[in-house]
Amino acid sequence: MGRHNFDEIIERRGTDSIKWQYLKSEVLPMWVADSDFKCPAELLESLEKRLRHGIFGYALLDDMLEEAVAHWMQSRFGWRFGDGCVAQSPGVCTAFSLALESLTSSGDGIAAFTPSYPPLINLPARQGRVALHCPLVRQPEGYAVNFADLEAKLALDRCSLLVLCNPHNPTGKVFSREELLRMGELCLRHNVLIFSDEIHCDYVHKGRHCPIASLSPEIASITLTAVNPSKTFNIAGLYAAAVISPNRDILARFRQSHARYSLHTNVMGALALHTAYRQCAWYADEVAAYTRENLAYAVDFINRNVPAIKTVMPEGTYLLWADCSGLGLDQSGMVGFFLEKARVAPSPGWDFGPGGQTFVRLNLACPRSLAQTGLERIAAAAQTLRTQQTAVRQAQDSAEAGPDQPNGSD
Ligand SMILES: Cc1ncc(COP(=O)(O)O)c(C=O)c1O
Repeated sequence: MGRHNFDEIIERRGTDSIKWQYLKSEVLPMWVADSDFKCPAELLESLEKRLRHGIFGYALLDDMLEEAVAHWMQSRFGWRFGDGCVAQSPGVCTAFSLALESLTSSGDGIAAFTPSYPPLINLPARQGRVALHCPLVRQPEGYAVNFADLEAKLALDRCSLLVLCNPHNPTGKVFSREELLRMGELCLRHNVLIFSDEIHCDYVHKGRHCPIASLSPEIASITLTAVNPSKTFNIAGLYAAAVISPNRDILARFRQSHARYSLHTNVMGALALHTAYRQCAWYADEVAAYTRENLAYAVDFINRNVPAIKTVMPEGTYLLWADCSGLGLDQSGMVGFFLEKARVAPSPGWDFGPGGQTFVRLNLACPRSLAQTGLERIAAAAQTLRTQQTAVRQAQDSAEAGPDQPNGSD
């Protein structure tokens, strides 16, 4: 038993939670990637103390953010970088938009592995850039990189940026050191910068996370890494994230775009980030361990009880990427199956681009009893569906065989 009670069920309806508010009350949300866990006690105490001060004027946050981010990266992942390598961003998606604006040009190609967290393949088009899809290759135990295809995309004249998401949302793949090194070398060879979204870095279920920029000074010099404690500490609504690059030119260009829109980090968000990264490592360990057990439970449950859905244990994240092609349903059938029959709302796989059409993504960052409820509902709905499909097939077979032949001689 750890320090934090992750089994506690906390009512989130009525708190403006996007995950809970959108759905009918009988539907269990397993979509948007925030957790249903309370923040660590230290984090709440520091926010309460700041709240009681009673004044929330303009704040100077650069140093505290940089100090906390540098501490986390070094103590958790062994990544050390010099002073002045951190810049603020309200979030990772905002950071990606700013990186697109400041580091690439109109018409440029932006390479990304698919299936992909939707904004990473959708935001480029909003700025007149072109997403270049690099399909991950599905294998029995996970996904692999097709390096020949990746190099072909990076070698295109118009390709100027690779978007990496590691650990990867939605597949849960954790790219190995060797894979990251090869990607970095290809980007160096073809003059392509890297935007590395490492927001799920605290959820790695085997070994530990490797920031791509930590691999060599050369790879660091072409990389902008984005992090946000939001996934780990459940503070996405506080909007305080950071980007890191030892390349002064990359960081200066990023900061110019940030300043163009007069963006700022909220003082409570900055304090939450600082408290999380300085005082709550224990919570990061516990939440990763708890969600790992949820994932293992879910994989085992589905393998034993829902033969029409195929899934494997992800290497990272708290997300389960599940192939539902065995249900034999089209998109609207899948929506009806999950929302109406199972009364569970996963993220639809087709939102994640090529390779996601028959999938759903289940968010397992919730108390185990909720995960159990959701999975049992899915299993019951799949069982009913199978019974109905069998009945329809039998009716079709007997209709094709024609009316029963009289077999008597009289
Ligand atoms: C891979 C990935 N990147 C970015 C985000 C969003 O980050 P932010 O809220 O900091 O924009 C998410 C949230 O689900 C995510 O999964």
